[in-house]
Amino acid sequence: MRLTHIEHIGIAVSDLKSEIRFYEDVLGLECYAIEEVPDQKVRTAFFRIGETKIELLESTDPQGPLGKFIEKRGEGIHHIAFAVENVTSALQEIEKNGVQLIDKQPRKGAEGLSIGFLHPKSNFGVLIELCGKN
Ligand code: CO
Repeated sequence: MRLTHIEHIGIAVSDLKSEIRFYEDVLGLECYAIEEVPDQKVRTAFFRIGETKIELLESTDPQGPLGKFIEKRGEGIHHIAFAVENVTSALQEIEKNGVQLIDKQPRKGAEGLSIGFLHPKSNFGVLIELCGKN
């Protein structure tokens, strides 16, 4: 397993439109995609900065995982996503180290990428996502 870079940083927001305005008008980044991911009950907005992206996440269902996160912890940094060549084998390798996974198998995330989450309990409270083509 080789992590190549930080693919994106996920930020939980309660109002996607006004957050997009902040990133565009104040920080000068450009939102290049808005995408709904029904599987995760979120709407996402993406900005590129170098090799990394900022992923803003707005909940589409208060009972979904992000809706519950915002209710409990408020807006703010939600997860860090590392790029890896093969998500399937990386998840298997990480599980062998006794780390608790949310996803034992990758699922489809935004931008058609395969993604898998590690449980924050095993990572000192940080939700980590692995992201790759397969
Ligand atoms: Co993400």
